[in-house]
Amino acid sequence: MSQIHKLTHKIYYVAYIAASIDGRIAKDCHSGTDWTSIEDWNFFQKSLEKIDAVIVGHNTYKLARARLKKRNAIVLTSKVQKPITKDSIIFFNPNKSNLKKFLQARKYKNVAIVGGPKVYNFCLENKMLDKLFVTIEPYVFTVGIPMFSSNKFKKYNFVLESVKKLNKKGTLLLKYKYAN
Ligand SMILES: NC(=O)c1ccc[n+]([C@@H]2O[C@H](COP(=O)([O-])OP(=O)(O)OC[C@H]3O[C@@H](n4cnc5c(N)ncnc54)[C@H](OP(=O)(O)O)[C@@H]3O)[C@@H](O)[C@H]2O)c1
Repeated sequence: MSQIHKLTHKIYYVAYIAASIDGRIAKDCHSGTDWTSIEDWNFFQKSLEKIDAVIVGHNTYKLARARLKKRNAIVLTSKVQKPITKDSIIFFNPNKSNLKKFLQARKYKNVAIVGGPKVYNFCLENKMLDKLFVTIEPYVFTVGIPMFSSNKFKKYNFVLESVKKLNKKGTLLLKYKYAN
């Protein structure tokens, strides 16, 4: 076995997104996710129990600061030149440091991608998205923040693994596997 194989291990990346029927994840970058169902919230919290670390954008971090304090959280931001650690929170600029290498060095095996859109996109582009859970809540928002955000069109393939109806009002939990 080569040296590189001995030094790296498989990291399993799972993204969680709660969206409206029209694919929005929030009204704007300052608004929370109080519109999601209790069933989705319970699923999300239970899933995080098995996770070593979460990756989150700076704006989402500001909204969920208190809850994220109890987790290993990597907060993506352009505002730092090198990783800055504050207790269990690490402020990380992926344009200045290699995120995959950083996660390897920490020996993380299960990493949750919890958004927002640029974070989901960054992970997708960098092959850091193995599974995708999308919860569709039965609302139409008409405007708002999209699930993924990029400045160039690209089509990525996913395979649907399961669909679960979470409640009577019709919240759907979709589980996808990255297929490229
Ligand atoms: N429904 C859901 O599942 C869900 C999930 C997550 C978030 N949300 C919602 O989404 C909204 C926040 O959205 P947002 O678009 O503002 O996204 P965000 O990802 O929370 O924050 C964007 C900021 O994160 C940093 N960032 C993200 N990707 C980066 C990268 N690749 N490199 C460097 N910095 C990066 C930048 O911060 P700097 O300005 O510091 O550089 C950027 O301005 C909130 O309302 C939140 O509630 C919903």
